[in-house]
Amino acid sequence: MDEHIMDDEWICGRLGEDASWQLGAVNPPVFENSLFTFASAADLAEAIKDEDERYVYWRGTNPTVDLLQRKLAALERAERAKCFGSGMGAISAAISSLVSAGDHVLVLGSVYGPTTQFLRYLAKFGVTHTHVGDLDGCDSAIRASTRLLYFESPSYMRYEIFDVAAVAAWASARGLVSVMDNTWSTPLFQKPLTMGVDLVVHSLSKYVGGHSDLVGGVVAGPAALVRPLALTEYQLYGAAMSPHDGAKAIKGLRTLPVRMPAHQERGLAVAAFLAGHPAVRAVHHPGLPAHPGHAQALRQMTGFSSLFGFELDTDSGEEVAGLLDRLRHFRVGVSWGGFESLAVAPALSVEESVRATMGVPVGLVRLSVGLEPAQTLIEDLALALEGVARLA
Ligand SMILES: Cc1ncc(COP(=O)(O)O)c(C=O)c1O
Repeated sequence: MDEHIMDDEWICGRLGEDASWQLGAVNPPVFENSLFTFASAADLAEAIKDEDERYVYWRGTNPTVDLLQRKLAALERAERAKCFGSGMGAISAAISSLVSAGDHVLVLGSVYGPTTQFLRYLAKFGVTHTHVGDLDGCDSAIRASTRLLYFESPSYMRYEIFDVAAVAAWASARGLVSVMDNTWSTPLFQKPLTMGVDLVVHSLSKYVGGHSDLVGGVVAGPAALVRPLALTEYQLYGAAMSPHDGAKAIKGLRTLPVRMPAHQERGLAVAAFLAGHPAVRAVHHPGLPAHPGHAQALRQMTGFSSLFGFELDTDSGEEVAGLLDRLRHFRVGVSWGGFESLAVAPALSVEESVRATMGVPVGLVRLSVGLEPAQTLIEDLALALEGVARLA
């Protein structure tokens, strides 16, 4: 293993990039081919046996995407990583590779809405799931047919912190595979595999891409879990990552170690401002000392990203919409992790039943704090909050 392998900045910027195929180019080449050719029929027949390792067809793998996979595997301290055409492509492939008809999945804490929708969808193939809030809930809900424990930390929309090592140990002691979505932290700020989690999934569409110009995902973990899904679910579902998106994600990784501390600093400044505002009922940011999971977060994470929620002191959806409409610098839009700061009010756009599962109050506003000056963002929020009825 390369002596630099544990240095994340080096992995992001250089790992795998000194290969002779780069011909000295400062950026790795984008292999824009749907197919590769072979010297003989026998060579092709041999390559087709392993379309995860051998370049045959775009829907199998591609050298540009392969480079990204090597970097992401190294960042997550994984033996292997497989990139997908979206985070959901990675999540659905990871889950379905691990379960069969009759199996049961435990979902700990709130998770990304479409992940829950995918688990509901699996019911038609005889796979069931149960949502639980903590490890005691896991103890009560586990069945003989439970195969998988799926979770996020911080959890989706609620930003709850789980003791990742304890959750992984609980699952392992019961013979379950643990799968964790690590998108919020990025592989720079949290490394779940080093805490015993079996498989990590990410949406690369957020901080890793970093510029809101790509959609992608990754599954990282031991070869024994990643290779089978690369050869089966990746090939059959067709959520292949394009070499163009692979190249953009590689560019995103180059600046990730510089961007993340800036996101952290700006996110915390905005969160601290909101925490002191009279129109704000609560701020859910695990980086704030008042957050109930803060001490545990410090034990298992090396930094905080800048996606968080705050609750306006109101139960009126109209008032929440009014606040969003008054924002001039924050833009209203889904997704997160890019340069631009974004605001959404989940209660106004998420289906009522999903909102209830996730425990999202009407007054919740989600902010993705981008890389603009924190003062500009704080002034924008301060002006918008002046219009809240209770203060007017
Ligand atoms: C936590 C989390 N995981 C996974 C996904 C899915 O990723 P993608 O949109 O790339 O499919 C998202 C998307 O918002 C997300 O927020």
